[in-house]
Amino acid sequence: MRTLLPLEGKKILLGVCGGIAAYKSAELTRRLIDQGAQVRIVMTASAKEFITPLTMQAVSGHAIYDSLLDPQAEAGMGHIELAKWADLILVAPATANTVARLRAGMADELLTTLCIASASPIVLAPAMNQQMYLSAATQENLKVLKERGFTIWGPAQGLQACGDVGPGRLLEVPELVELCCEFFAVPEQPLSGVNVVITAGPTQEAIDPVRYISNHSSGKMGFSLAEAALAMGANVTVIAGPVNLTLPTNINRLNVKSAREMHQAALDSLATTDIFIACAAVADYRTEEVHSEKMKKKADTDTITLTLVKNPDIIADVASAKDRPFCVGFAAETNDVEAYALGKLQRKNLDLIAANDVSVSTQGFNSDNNALTVFSKDSRFDIPLSSKKEVAIQLLKVVSEQFNKTTKK
Ligand code: C5P
Repeated sequence: MRTLLPLEGKKILLGVCGGIAAYKSAELTRRLIDQGAQVRIVMTASAKEFITPLTMQAVSGHAIYDSLLDPQAEAGMGHIELAKWADLILVAPATANTVARLRAGMADELLTTLCIASASPIVLAPAMNQQMYLSAATQENLKVLKERGFTIWGPAQGLQACGDVGPGRLLEVPELVELCCEFFAVPEQPLSGVNVVITAGPTQEAIDPVRYISNHSSGKMGFSLAEAALAMGANVTVIAGPVNLTLPTNINRLNVKSAREMHQAALDSLATTDIFIACAAVADYRTEEVHSEKMKKKADTDTITLTLVKNPDIIADVASAKDRPFCVGFAAETNDVEAYALGKLQRKNLDLIAANDVSVSTQGFNSDNNALTVFSKDSRFDIPLSSKKEVAIQLLKVVSEQFNKTTKK
């Protein structure tokens, strides 16, 4: 039996923009086809100044698409059908101009129209002069597009066609092909059918109707864990404090504000929870009294006193329940990370604790990156500094291995 190629049956719409790296798009098309992909090409007007439509047609074996309002093209595969056809839209090279136009949601030529009309994942492989890449406008455009769910591959560093040296080179063709193969690789499903509950984000403890006590947790780590658990086959529930993030619709989301609401939601889910991951930065204390009206500034005193009372420890209560789930806690520490983490593991009766050093500014709170050391009672796993999405995948691999060990005992 013939083994399937990594991109067999995958439909890739390759968007080519007008930059010198466009000459690599022909080679890229060929190598994607070698891996089994079906490739259709969309060229912008300026792309055609750098590489001819005839070349791209010859290497792909199909007429290229370049016009939004061409009755003949629309009579074949129209732009909406083309947008629906793609399993992946890969824009390589993506120029500063196209990046800006995508950010603005322009729909006055074919490539950006396809991107805005498609529900498929979109990957941009930027290629431009290093100064253009580093400009505030391009950086902001890419940041916004990332937040909207676009994936950015590259750019690479090095010598540029214009003679500059810096970031802005298109990734090499083999790297782009490898990334496409990884993109379509079917993830392992070690958590198939397992119910995973994750707390995420900060909590807000009301002082009065307009004020609260909270912290800087962004929720990114917890939300990344939720997406990674879903990809591994789990049924995922996120108990989310107030955060500005979205989740795929097939994740069950329970929105809460205070620690007590989060506590209640966790206990309510207990009967159907197999793995509980406490990623939330829960406020340790809440105000004893929540004023029903806005507290007024007093003319006669410079200080006021709020009395704070301890919040319930959510994971400790989950871990001490009868028929407890497998419990994973987090320990954000600024010093003696290992000693404090191991102390929490024992005190809260956890199966695993993921410790991070939040005194390092490149990781943890509010950052897109993280590095973790995970401890069980008798072992230790190091997850090096990487994006929170990657760290989430690595952490869940450890969690699923340890969980599967305990359930197979
Ligand atoms: O705040 P602390 O360092 O004790 O947090 C350790 C772990 O306990 C984290 O996983 C956190 O989500 C969890 N926690 C909790 N309820 C609290 C405080 C912390 O679930 N009230």
